[in-house]
Amino acid sequence: MTPLQTLLLLLVFHALLAITAEFGVPSPPPAPAPAEPKTCPAKCGEVEIPYPFGIGTGCSLSDDFALTCNETTSPPSLLTGEAKVASITLETAQMVVYTHLTYSCDLPINSTATRHTTSSMALNVAKPFLLSPSENVFTAVGCSLTARINGRSDIPYLTGCITTCARVNDTGDDGTPCSGHGCCQASLTPNLTQVSVEWEIRRGRSPVAENMCQYAFVATKGWYSFSKNDLIGNMTFLTRFGSGPVVPVVLDWAIRDGTCPSVPHGGNSENVSYGACVSTQSYCVNASNGTPGYFCDCSKGYTGNPYIKNGCTNINECELRRSANSTIYKNMYPCHEGTCHDTEGDYECKCNLGRKGDGKSAKGCELLVSSAGVAAIGTISATALLVVLLIFLYMEREKRKLRDRFNKNGGQLLKSLKIEIFTKEKLDHITNNYCYIIGQGAFGKVYRGTTGAGDSSRVAVKCSIPINEDWKKESFANEITIQSNISHRNLVQLLGCCVETEVPMLVYEYVSRGSLHDVLHGDDKVPLPLETRLDIAIYSAVALGYMHSEASQRTIILHGDVKSGNILLDEGFTPKVSDFGTSRLMSIDKDHTNWVVGDKSYIDPVYMKTGLLTEKSDVYSFGIVLLELVTRKKARYDGNHSLPMDYVKAFMGGAVREMFDPEVASGGEEDEGCLEEVGKIAVQCLEEDVDDRPAMSEVVERLKTCKCRWLEGDRKTNKIST
Ligand SMILES: *[C@@H]1O[C@H](CO)[C@@H](O)[C@H](O)[C@H]1NC(C)=O
Ligand SMILES: *[C@@H]1O[C@H](CO)[C@@H](O)[C@H](O)[C@H]1NC(C)=O
Ligand SMILES: *[C@@H]1O[C@H](CO)[C@@H](O)[C@H](O)[C@H]1NC(C)=O
Ligand SMILES: *[C@@H]1O[C@H](CO)[C@@H](O)[C@H](O)[C@H]1NC(C)=O
Ligand SMILES: *[C@@H]1O[C@H](CO)[C@@H](O)[C@H](O)[C@H]1NC(C)=O
Ligand SMILES: *[C@@H]1O[C@H](CO)[C@@H](O)[C@H](O)[C@H]1NC(C)=O
Ligand SMILES: *[C@@H]1O[C@H](CO)[C@@H](O)[C@H](O)[C@H]1NC(C)=O
Ligand SMILES: *[C@@H]1O[C@H](CO)[C@@H](O)[C@H](O)[C@H]1NC(C)=O
Repeated sequence: MTPLQTLLLLLVFHALLAITAEFGVPSPPPAPAPAEPKTCPAKCGEVEIPYPFGIGTGCSLSDDFALTCNETTSPPSLLTGEAKVASITLETAQMVVYTHLTYSCDLPINSTATRHTTSSMALNVAKPFLLSPSENVFTAVGCSLTARINGRSDIPYLTGCITTCARVNDTGDDGTPCSGHGCCQASLTPNLTQVSVEWEIRRGRSPVAENMCQYAFVATKGWYSFSKNDLIGNMTFLTRFGSGPVVPVVLDWAIRDGTCPSVPHGGNSENVSYGACVSTQSYCVNASNGTPGYFCDCSKGYTGNPYIKNGCTNINECELRRSANSTIYKNMYPCHEGTCHDTEGDYECKCNLGRKGDGKSAKGCELLVSSAGVAAIGTISATALLVVLLIFLYMEREKRKLRDRFNKNGGQLLKSLKIEIFTKEKLDHITNNYCYIIGQGAFGKVYRGTTGAGDSSRVAVKCSIPINEDWKKESFANEITIQSNISHRNLVQLLGCCVETEVPMLVYEYVSRGSLHDVLHGDDKVPLPLETRLDIAIYSAVALGYMHSEASQRTIILHGDVKSGNILLDEGFTPKVSDFGTSRLMSIDKDHTNWVVGDKSYIDPVYMKTGLLTEKSDVYSFGIVLLELVTRKKARYDGNHSLPMDYVKAFMGGAVREMFDPEVASGGEEDEGCLEEVGKIAVQCLEEDVDDRPAMSEVVERLKTCKCRWLEGDRKTNKIST
């Protein structure tokens, strides 16, 4: 290494030192903490001695903080100067010492003379102590007393108070604040290092005989509470509190060789480390009493001794909350409705489920929703649950009802048939919830339904109203069986049924023009030429004849309610007889019934009388339909007048032509002849003696013949006319 290199190295080294000196270390701490005391007594008697205080060389921060322990007393007494130490508190930098009481007594020696005795006290405190103005108060107790404190701070200090009372009973009650009657108080000033109590020179003895002794002292606020008894007798005060140094006084102490550095702008005052505050998580606090002076404290969330290394330790707030004194700590470290987690220097309060907010605040964790909200939500959900449950139960019940009805109405039997079995739901859908009525009467209602797109998919859904309790599933099933087995172009075809309803619903083919009754007597009178009328008559008769014949069935089927309203017409006026078998359904498989069903205007008087339904009853009713066709008059019935009676009367009287519908009667001789012939058939059908009535097949034949003749005549006439 050359000398030049050495020189350079030295220069660099010095430069580094300079930089370190300038930036690394601020002003040197005024009171360097000595090595941690190893064998220093932690206690003297029952009093703990925390550093910076200590007994013995090297045990205290400085000589100011050196204490002594007199082991000869029992228990041993800790002393600072002459004063006996009661306790030392680091957090507030205070010490409690005991001092003497001062008194002034006039005790009687004989009946005329008294002996006057007084005591005095003086408290001198040295650096680092000052009397605490906030914690102490000067108090005098007596009935005629002026007491003074002679204080010493930087400037002379004198204060005191006066107390009087005419009688002991005039003073305030025991425990009341000192206000000048029997006792008075005066506050102290800061910076006080010395106090001595002095008595005002008095003339004569106390005006109150029993008040022999008067007292004065500087003591911790709240230590003395007034008692009348203190005013009476020989030194009763001492019997109450004991003799010797018994009066506690609070001293403020501080490290008197500096003040805390100023807080950097925007900095945290609890983050200013300085001088004797050597522990991590400790900070410097300016003394409030006397300057200069500071003390140290542990940062928030830490506890311990800030004057020793690592003296401040984390507070486990959660453990404290669980400790025996939990009430105090729970108030100190709130965590309401949350879970406490200790952290370094702090604690967390995680809100419990369903709660939010600041668990560490006084309010604690709050419910996500208010209790009213919870109640409301609870009620709503409970209600909703109940409603769902009820709906479920209702649906279950409805399902069971449907099943029951299905069985009751012979659903099992019907399953074997060719017709379709509709569910109630499907029918609801098909009929669009029964919104379009195409027929209505005593039996119930007929609704139009649609099973698909287009007119061909139309159906008629018949909903009967229950007539009586005698509905029997067997009879119903039988009837359905019959109806589903027969198929004729002039009978309305049964397509299906639904047995889930109270009274089974029947689904029929849809016949577009509606009933003959409506066509004949409706508001918009559709023109009906004679030929059409003949065809309607013929094919209705054919249908009834078919029902009455045993050819298609093992048994004959009676219609029971033949009327123009039950003869439906399709687009081409082809008749389709509907509602056949209804009466049989209702007469419960019997031909005899007291329950006469059917339209009164059409009903066979014989059937009315006997209750016996026969084919001839249908024939009678059909006769009236024939009369309707030729006259286009309604088949009314009002006892004296009825269409058949009127017609028969006209027929007998030879004035029958006047009865005919002018629309078809004005066509000429041929037409009138034909109408007359049809009328003749009708009159025969209406015979009172059922044996005189023709059978349906005969009616068909005669009507056909009539039509043929009319057609021939028509052709002839047409030939002639052309
Ligand atoms: C200790 O206390 C006793 C009794 O009060 C006293 O006599 C003695 O002088 C004291 N010793 C010291 C060292 O202060
Ligand atoms: C009371 O005591 C005083 C002083 O000791 C004495 O002078 C006086 O005579 C005494 N009085 C009586 C009545 O004994
Ligand atoms: C003071 O009052 C108490 C009751 O309050 C009474 O017993 C006592 O005799 C009174 N004393 C005097 C000196 O009046
Ligand atoms: C206490 O003493 C300090 C320093 O001597 C002085 O600055 C301060 O004003 C004094 N306080 C009172 C209340 O006298
Ligand atoms: C008063 O009390 C003191 C101490 O308790 C006692 O020495 C004194 O003799 C008493 N005096 C009277 C007059 O009772
Ligand atoms: C302490 O007192 C000094 C002097 O009064 C002041 O400059 C400083 O900012 C104070 N520090 C704190 C932390 O209050
Ligand atoms: C406290 O002081 C330390 C260094 O002394 C610094 O790192 C930290 O950021 C300070 N914190 C606050 C809140 O000022
Ligand atoms: C509870 O606290 C009181 C006052 O703060 C104290 O005196 C007592 O010793 C404590 N008890 C326990 C078990 O910590």
